[in-house]
Amino acid sequence: MMERSYFYYNVLDSTMLEYQRLREYNNGTICVRTDYQGDGVGRDNHNWLSPTGGLWFTFDIVFSGFVSSFGLYTGYCLHRELCRLFYPLADKLQIKWTNDIIYDGKKLGGVLCKSHPGRYTIGIGLNTNNDIDSSLGKFGAVSLKNILNTNISNEQLCFSLIDAVERNVRLLSHEITYITYCNENLFGKNCKALIDVGTEPFEAEILGIDLKGALIVRKGMGEIINLSSGSILSIEAFS
Ligand code: BTN
Repeated sequence: MMERSYFYYNVLDSTMLEYQRLREYNNGTICVRTDYQGDGVGRDNHNWLSPTGGLWFTFDIVFSGFVSSFGLYTGYCLHRELCRLFYPLADKLQIKWTNDIIYDGKKLGGVLCKSHPGRYTIGIGLNTNNDIDSSLGKFGAVSLKNILNTNISNEQLCFSLIDAVERNVRLLSHEITYITYCNENLFGKNCKALIDVGTEPFEAEILGIDLKGALIVRKGMGEIINLSSGSILSIEAFS
């Protein structure tokens, strides 16, 4: 197997964009990491705030085929690895469908996955050593530094997370393993949520995730539907 090429920058527009540029003249697998992104990209083309100190990186894995629950697979790998490395966090660390990492109800990190012929590209943003200022705070973010009261090595964490995604790849043909795990650690389960599927947001109770990675929800009139795409805008306790 060809060794991965690592690229590190102090400042970038976005590691997703730099990955695309580097892809033009690199054949093997790549990891691009930066300390700061001026134009970070989130899901649904949202802007992703990426202040200095956080862990912002994009890498790829060789994989043929398309797995609809790939995002949950990455959420599973990240959640498990973070629980292993930072054991005291485990009680309050959850996975928000499709693949956000939540700590005590606040967003610790997000993941952007893209399928290409023969490979997946994965962009990970984790609030690690960055402060949560008012602009991040209004999105309900939290950082590892807030939780642990110490800084961690972004470089080491980047290596560990890539390793976790690579070494579990065989599970992509045993979806039940990571879907079960995601269901056990699902943020907002049995709660009422505001859900966006691209039309008018609606309220529904989150019931779980099905074997294809779709979110199972119960709407107001009792109708149960499985959502293969969309996002959870907010959660409130189910009364
Ligand atoms: C989300 O919307 O929750 C996904 C956010 C993904 C952000 C990461 S940070 C590293 C990589 N570069 C980007 O511009 N975006 C992803």
